Amino acid sequence: AGLFTYDPGFSSTASCESKITYIDGDEGVLLYRGYPIEDLVAHGDFLETCYLLLYGELPTVRQKHDFDYRVTHHTMVHEQMARFYQGFRRDSHPMAVMVGSVGAMSAFYHDSTDIADPHQRTLASIRMIAKMPTIAAMAYKYTTGQPFVYPKNDLDYASNFLRMCFSVPFEEYKVDPVLSRAMDRILILHADNEQGASSSTVRLAGSSGANPFACIAAGVACLWGPAHGGANEAALKMLAEIGKPDRIPEFLARAKDPDDPFRLMGFGHRVYKSYDPRAKLMRDICREVLTATRSDDRLFDVALELEQAAARDDYFTEKKLFPNLDFYSGLTLRAMGFPPAMFTAVFALARTAGWIAQWTEMIADPSQKIGRPRQLYTGHTRRDYVDMKRRV
Ligand code: CMC
Repeated sequence: AGLFTYDPGFSSTASCESKITYIDGDEGVLLYRGYPIEDLVAHGDFLETCYLLLYGELPTVRQKHDFDYRVTHHTMVHEQMARFYQGFRRDSHPMAVMVGSVGAMSAFYHDSTDIADPHQRTLASIRMIAKMPTIAAMAYKYTTGQPFVYPKNDLDYASNFLRMCFSVPFEEYKVDPVLSRAMDRILILHADNEQGASSSTVRLAGSSGANPFACIAAGVACLWGPAHGGANEAALKMLAEIGKPDRIPEFLARAKDPDDPFRLMGFGHRVYKSYDPRAKLMRDICREVLTATRSDDRLFDVALELEQAAARDDYFTEKKLFPNLDFYSGLTLRAMGFPPAMFTAVFALARTAGWIAQWTEMIADPSQKIGRPRQLYTGHTRRDYVDMKRRV
């Protein structure tokens, strides 16, 4: 193996030092800057979490007010961005549109973003947190064929996002406070999870000194996959396929079959090995949203039963496979009115807070180097070039 440690998937490599998020996978603990996720979800709001992740401390009343004000006054995207959307296929997946449109933001804020200047880094962070709901809502509206809805800055962050997604012309739209509080808590739950694949991607992209908006676009691309943020869409698809509780054993058997590539979606985690605290909180939010929207969702019963059936099965307990964040989030977002294709876009808008905090921490770190893993080369040794006429 030569000079390097071979660690596929980096399961035992620490890529950085960080003060942002702490996970104790054996105890099911998640702390943002030392504060338990349960407390932040119970008492705070998403912009408070953004402030905490970015600056390391909970804001005072004054700091919170200023931060909310700054974010609120950057929610618009340039009108040219709206035209940029028109180039996408009408039926594009919202995450495809997000990858493109977040990347396009780098064109709008390239010359004005000097990453060596902390003030400009802060401005870029605020812009990203502020514009992500607008960009995600536009991606949704574009795929429905409805006109874009501009942000309304007297609303709070979550309500503004819901309104930009669900308000339609000529109809009064009132944000349900239960749903906006639920959305706010969903955003807190998704805000950071230390060095997950997409955060590592943002750090790796950023380590070359690249434009931060382009780095966040790289994070969005990584998040899309079904092993990561795409699991929320995949989990709902799986629950719909299972359809009713009596088909659960069949799917559990498939998940255990070594010759079947099928996995339980929304199950398992690289770090959480007793349970994922976010899944518990999400299950409670899901219950509340189903009640508030009077949705009698039989798939929620399938999900609860699947969780219990897996907990009784040695395969899943021995491999420490439990529901993760993505298991109940799809059901919750669906009850709020989102189509499955939007689930991961909601995840992306929330995780932007973590991505930008991770990026900021990395850029400010003087020991920072370009991320450049090594490899174990297993290809040919040196050989002689063969002229095309003599190749067989
Ligand atoms: N269903 C059935 N078996 C599983 C599952 C699952 N969901 N997850 C892991 N296993 C098995 C796997 O087959 C392997 O068995 P063996 O040791 O016999 O080969 C063992 O458990 C360890 O799995 P792994 O793939 O080596 O574990 P990992 O840490 O590389 O992967 C994971 C973690 C989350 C990618 C994986 O559990 C998975 O694919 N889960 C389904 C997708 C999912 O829900 N992803 C969301 C993750 S949480 C939120 C987020 O990050 O977006």
